[in-house]
Order: sequence, then C-alpha cells, then structure tokens
Amino acid sequence: MKRSAGVPSDPQRLCAMKRLARLAPLAVVVTILVGCEGLTKVDYTSPGRGGWQRPDDVVTALALRPGDRVADLGAGEGYFIPYLSDAVGIEGRVYAVDLDPELVAELEEEFAGGAGDNVEVVLGAEDDPRLPRGALDAVLIVNTYHHIADRPRYFAKLRNNLRPGGRIAIIEPNADLGGILALALEEGHTSHASEVVREMQEAGYRQVESLDFLPVQVFEVFSAADE
Ligand SMILES: C[S@@+](CC[C@H](N)C(=O)[O-])C[C@H]1O[C@@H](n2cnc3c(N)ncnc32)[C@H](O)[C@@H]1O
Repeated sequence: MKRSAGVPSDPQRLCAMKRLARLAPLAVVVTILVGCEGLTKVDYTSPGRGGWQRPDDVVTALALRPGDRVADLGAGEGYFIPYLSDAVGIEGRVYAVDLDPELVAELEEEFAGGAGDNVEVVLGAEDDPRLPRGALDAVLIVNTYHHIADRPRYFAKLRNNLRPGGRIAIIEPNADLGGILALALEEGHTSHASEVVREMQEAGYRQVESLDFLPVQVFEVFSAADE
C-alpha cells in the first residue's frame, strides 16, 4: 500500500499517533489555560477566552432567529452581548441583566443606543430579573447560575418571562471536571450538571439538550415541563 510522507508504516506507531491526535483538542485547552508561568485560573476578561468559551458556537446552539428576544442573565461585562445582538438582528431585542449597578452603568455606556440599538440594559434584583412577562425566546445564563440564591424559586418565577417554546440555557463551570482542568476553575464557583438538571426540574422545566463541546463548562438547555 502506498503511504503519504510522514505516515509511519509500523502499526503500533500509527496507533500511538492516532491516540495523540485524539488528544489534540484537550492540548489546545491546556495550552490556553497554562501559560509559561504555570497553571492560571480561567479568566473571563482575557482575550484568550474565545478559545474555551466558543461564543459563536454557543450562540449557534441557541438557534436564535432574527426578531427573537433573548436575555443574558448575569451579563457581567457583556461578553456575550455582541454575539446575541448579531443573532437576533435589528428587529430583535437583547436584555442585558445584572444586579451590580456599576456593571449595569458600564453596560449602558458600552451597548445601549449603539449601532444595532437592539440592546436594553436591565438592573435586576437578586430574586427578580425584572424582565417583561411572556416575552423571551431564550435566556442565556453563563457562569452565573451558582450565584443565584434559592434557584428553584427564582427559576419557577422566570417561567413567567418566557414565550411559549422559550428556552433557558445554562452554562456553568463544570464541577465534574478532573485532573489539570479542574485546577483552572475557582473552588465554589462550579456546578454539577446533575445538580443543575435536578434543580431545574424542581422549578418546573424539562431538559431539552445537553451539549458537551465546551471544555470546562456544562451547557444544559431547558424548556417548561408542561409544553
Ligand atoms: C461570574 S460573572 C459572569 C458574567 C458573564 N455572564 C460572563 O460569563 O462573562 C456573574 C455575574 O452575575 C451577576 N449576578 C449574580 N447574581 C445575579 C442575579 N440574581 N441576577 C442578575 N445578575 C446576577 C453578577 O453581578 C456578575 O456580574
């Protein structure tokens, strides 16, 4: 059999190379997280975030359509806002919700009244996102779920803000990670996928999707259980 240059003819070596190739995505993530000076915690503000957060893939997975209304709950510094804004377009609406007044002021300055003008910044309360009733096609919650107190009650109330067919997507640092990647996450700022699913079921939702393409976070999607 003719072999291309660089492909070993020894079957054992070929198997070893195939195993290494399968580890390549993990190696990319480890390289992102481990700098020259050793392991660093994941940094939500670093330019390297795109490598592990994969915002385009996340927003594609939400299957938003032009005109949709979507909330980023716990928007922080607004990492996901430009991606969501592009996905729903000028006819759509993005609600950037946070309970920190300083962050809300920064979000206002950065996004409200901007080019697309489809972003509305909302100062939420700890027990109420202060969103319009029956309005949302999707709610995205990234690295924020574990901050929310009394989650079953909070999410039971959030159902009132969804449109029929509306979905809630929860992306959380993955408490089930082991090995070197686990060291990159802040202790106490993670959730187990099973815990998220159980609490959301308690709040009246059913899981519609579980996505596994994010290397250090769980990505679980829910809709109202009675739909
Ligand atoms: C770790 S940051 C994540 C920010 C952003 N989602 C990201 O991934 O870059 C968590 C954010 O959630 C906000 N937060 C915590 N509890 C909240 C609540 N009940 N309602 C709205 N925002 C909340 C915090 O103020 C903070 O900005």
